[in-house]
Amino acid sequence: MSITNFPGGGASASTANSTTKITMPALSEMKRQGKAISALTAYDYATSRLVDEAGIDLILVGDSLAMVVLGHENTLAVTMDEMLHHTRAVRRGVRRALLVADMPFGSYHGTVAEGVANAIRFVKEAGAEAVKIEGARVELVRALFEAEIPVVGHLGLTPQSIHQMGGYRVQGRSADAALQLRADAHALAEAGAGAIVLEGVPREVAAMITAELPIPTIGIGAGPECDGQILVFHDLVGLTFAPAAKFVRRYGDAGAMIRLAVEGYREDIERRSFPSDEESYHLPETVRRTLDAPENTGRIRRV
Ligand code: KIV
Repeated sequence: MSITNFPGGGASASTANSTTKITMPALSEMKRQGKAISALTAYDYATSRLVDEAGIDLILVGDSLAMVVLGHENTLAVTMDEMLHHTRAVRRGVRRALLVADMPFGSYHGTVAEGVANAIRFVKEAGAEAVKIEGARVELVRALFEAEIPVVGHLGLTPQSIHQMGGYRVQGRSADAALQLRADAHALAEAGAGAIVLEGVPREVAAMITAELPIPTIGIGAGPECDGQILVFHDLVGLTFAPAAKFVRRYGDAGAMIRLAVEGYREDIERRSFPSDEESYHLPETVRRTLDAPENTGRIRRV
């Protein structure tokens, strides 16, 4: 190996600052230091660049892509090729954040070997620095760890299990279910997961798991005690078409802003005020005079 270029200067996790490249070990260090981890999804070059430049620590190319970008009803339809395509675009926009790719439904539900092979594609072909998988797939997490691929687990409301769950429902509400979640979280951490997303679980359960685990928890609908928080980009900026879930906080209304901009554009075209003379290119004066000369007006030159 020849180290010719260390993105972010190669600072160690303990010296991480706002310009240092975020790695999986850096997230654990943030937990140890009590620093909150910010995470957000992104699906393309422009938005991932904005998210990265805003200082978000972890960017997930979520399989929520299926719904918010591709318009599917749930996350199940998105394919490996689609996830790879969008992960590559996000890769080009991200410099500092840890880039995590969500493994789509079906890409790790067969053998452990198939799961590892698909995870390797995200790292090799799309530049992901970690993959995320849903459920207590302890053997697969162990195999990925052994294959040097950092893994983010995902427990609680796991959208890829929509049919098994009978809909999107808060998980871990009974004592038995809470204890199972806790056991699953410990099992994933022991198998080598670098962080765990806790989605749609009671605040108290997430707080208990967060306090016990050596690795960070990233919550979405799991209360404020998680080590970090994640939201779907389109929910955060108001680019969705249905009422937001209880746990979503909207920080902008990009939908209204885009509507207004596009309507203004259409109206300007219709009233012929776009483009203006300033927005047009012009011929040099000498060429214009030549074209206006009597011998050239109305004459079509044949070659
Ligand atoms: O796909 C997704 O958006 C997720 C969430 C945890 C943000 O998995």
